[in-house]
Amino acid sequence: MPIQVLKPKFHVEECLNAVRECLEQGWTGMGFKTVEFEEAWKKYTGHKYAYYLNSNTVGLHLAVKILKMNNGWKDGDEIISTPITFVSTNHAIMYENMHPVFADVDEYLCLDPEDVERKITEKTRAVIFVGYGGRVGQLDKVIEICRKHGLKLILDAAHMSGTKVNGVCPGTWEGVDVAVYSYQAVKNLATGDSGCICWADAASADLTRKLAWCGIDKDTYARSNKGTYAWKYDIDYVGYKYNGNAIMGAIALTQLPYLDEENARRREIVRMYNEGFKNNPHISIIPAPYADECAFHLYELVVPDREDLLNKLSAEGINCGVHYRDNTEYSVYAYAHGTCPKAHEISQHLITMPLHLWLTDEDVAMIIEKVNAYA
Ligand SMILES: Cc1ncc(COP(=O)(O)O)c(C=O)c1O
Repeated sequence: MPIQVLKPKFHVEECLNAVRECLEQGWTGMGFKTVEFEEAWKKYTGHKYAYYLNSNTVGLHLAVKILKMNNGWKDGDEIISTPITFVSTNHAIMYENMHPVFADVDEYLCLDPEDVERKITEKTRAVIFVGYGGRVGQLDKVIEICRKHGLKLILDAAHMSGTKVNGVCPGTWEGVDVAVYSYQAVKNLATGDSGCICWADAASADLTRKLAWCGIDKDTYARSNKGTYAWKYDIDYVGYKYNGNAIMGAIALTQLPYLDEENARRREIVRMYNEGFKNNPHISIIPAPYADECAFHLYELVVPDREDLLNKLSAEGINCGVHYRDNTEYSVYAYAHGTCPKAHEISQHLITMPLHLWLTDEDVAMIIEKVNAYA
């Protein structure tokens, strides 16, 4: 079996027992385990509010939508974002007819605060910051810039489940208006597909509950817990079907207690990689601030000939990847091509090494040896 680049490790028997509970209880939809998970996530992260969703993508959409509704933003208004991300980050802006303006990345492959400030115009309303590969980057400086210019800050925390800075989850920092997590199939806290949106304010959290559930003002679970099934509800908005379900919630709840120890093992692998590649003059690594508390989701190298290395490693049974292609190379974002030269250059040389809980120390040593032989 080839070594995969990303591969989740499930606590299978425990997950099956938790899913069995849903099946036996006859409650697989929204509520029950989703509510339990929201409480567990708030306790784990320190977020005041959490709403369990069917993905991070829909959470980013709701984040932009609700900020637009609450702040009177117009179609065509701008949100500054990164070209080094999965496209959901930028699609979320487009879903709301707003305009992604791309800022360049720093050495952590997160938004470069200086370029963010340069890209601000009178139409800028917000910044979406991606915690690339679990890194916090210079989020603190970007928050300062947002404060100075009166902009909102959306944290795409898809990779950041478990990342802390001095014991605190950066999504809870003052100045982050909303943080959106992903528990997609290969993320550090993997389910099948799900995510969570965590607002800093109660009103937006409340609106999220309605908009994520077709605009209905009370959810089925809350209604079913009233003793009599209160069938009557009102529809305040043309909402969406974005809620998470109890089966995914059961898996998330089961996996969550293992997240810290699993992230610690990821850090161990990262340290082995860093050590193994530090003397190779053809390879650069992507550093991480607060590396001892980073929930590394991705491990990237920068190499001269990425395609050649990908092919040679694949022939050896080591499947690597690329995270990410400069988004301004995609047709829909081609209008911004050339606006982020550093991101563009580095994205042609990035290669993602395997990083997951199935890797043994011997696997890591073998990967290091092969990469050093070929790079
Ligand atoms: C940076 C980033 N943002 C957003 C997403 C979308 O997450 P989801 O698959 O949960 O919708 C991903 C998923 O790969 C991601 O890597």
